[in-house]
Amino acid sequence: MANLIINGRNMSVDAADDTPLLWVIREQLQMTGTKFGCGAGLCGACTVHVNGEAVRSCQTAVSEAVGKQITTIEGLSEKGDHPLQKAWIAEQVPQCGYCQSGQIMQAASLLSKNSSPTKEEVVAHMDGNLCRCMTYARIQRAVLRAAAEMRTASTGNDRRNT
Ligand code: FES
Ligand code: FES
Repeated sequence: MANLIINGRNMSVDAADDTPLLWVIREQLQMTGTKFGCGAGLCGACTVHVNGEAVRSCQTAVSEAVGKQITTIEGLSEKGDHPLQKAWIAEQVPQCGYCQSGQIMQAASLLSKNSSPTKEEVVAHMDGNLCRCMTYARIQRAVLRAAAEMRTASTGNDRRNT
């Protein structure tokens, strides 16, 4: 048995140590927001956070994630209203949608460390997340929009706290 902490909840799964975290999330726990794309670490569709870092869950053994904080797209925000999710809607980013949860999780790991990324930094950070529908320009706009909204919200909070 492996004891995992996923989206703040303790979950026990019966899986061999080398089982990819993606299989556990999708097949055993039926959390299907995280997608299977290439299965080889090449597309980013399976991106989740482990201790705040974006990782490819198809390349992460379940044993590597034990005891760490795992966040999937389902846990990014309680009501699906993370600034990135709102920006994704505002910019109408998805086409088929398949790659998009991985894109959002990858972007979220950037904004958690860099609240004011340049377009070049966004492009570099998102480089390994592929989109067969070529939504890249809209993804970049949405990440920059979300960053701006997060900065505005944090300035407002600072003002309220002074
Ligand atoms: S499914 Fe994991 S990187 Fe493509
Ligand atoms: S929206 Fe179709 S693969 Fe990205």
